[in-house]
Amino acid sequence: MLIVHSIEELFTQTAQFNGSIGFVPTMGALHEGHLSLIRQARQANDFVVVSIFVNPTQFLEGEDLDAYPRKEKADAKICEFAGVDVIFMPTKEMMYEADELSITAPAIRGFILEGAKRPSHFDGMLQVVMKLLNLIAYNKPTEFRAYFGKKDAQQLALIMQMVKNYFINVEIVPCDIVRDSDGLALSSRNVYLSKEERTKALALSRSLKRATELVMQKEFKVTMIQEAMLEVLKEVDVEYVALVNREFQAIDEVKIGNTIMLVAAKVGTTRLIDNLWI
Ligand code: PAF
Repeated sequence: MLIVHSIEELFTQTAQFNGSIGFVPTMGALHEGHLSLIRQARQANDFVVVSIFVNPTQFLEGEDLDAYPRKEKADAKICEFAGVDVIFMPTKEMMYEADELSITAPAIRGFILEGAKRPSHFDGMLQVVMKLLNLIAYNKPTEFRAYFGKKDAQQLALIMQMVKNYFINVEIVPCDIVRDSDGLALSSRNVYLSKEERTKALALSRSLKRATELVMQKEFKVTMIQEAMLEVLKEVDVEYVALVNREFQAIDEVKIGNTIMLVAAKVGTTRLIDNLWI
């Protein structure tokens, strides 16, 4: 496995790849969730590239950019163990110049839910994903796949839209959420939770479980499901509980096969999100 710190080195490596590339973009602090993306990339492709870059443009003023967990040595070990060929670790200076073109998330889908709570977050996220896709596929691999977790469901929907709107030649592969045995969705931010907060945080996955039970009992009304979820979430600071279709449009009734149930809440000072696709 090679760790490359410059765009030139990255291009030298990918020029030698004679086959498909599976790409897993990350901000580091890798956990079992990332590992599952890497495993899927490894299985389906000849070469696997992981990027580790804490992208400043997707953090808002006052968010945890400086405190965001950085664990480069541990990340490299995980990647090596998982059979990654190249880790790309650029610097901010390599990725951005002062007077940049910008990408703006779509006016509705990009500015509801996460977009409403974190305005401009998706602009920065799309900007860096576009750059990374272009960089990794620069040498025109025979096939190019990029792997994203369903945990960031809105991020995934917007990336798929960007790929469609900008005709980017990549297959986006959505990957299932990985959970701890108690149900907590894995996230790099879970390290911020104290023991008590971690127990409280389980309300997020429990609320989604409650919603699923209702759907199985044929309760399809979104307002009823939201009410039941909020009841389970009483002990955390809820930001939103929402049900949307796969295109991230608001719905009144659950349609099995085309619904995502989402929750965002603060537990202590840590902001967590979770969702379930039904
Ligand atoms: O999901 C993430 O970790 C980031 O948003 C991504 C896709 C790596 C872009 O910085």
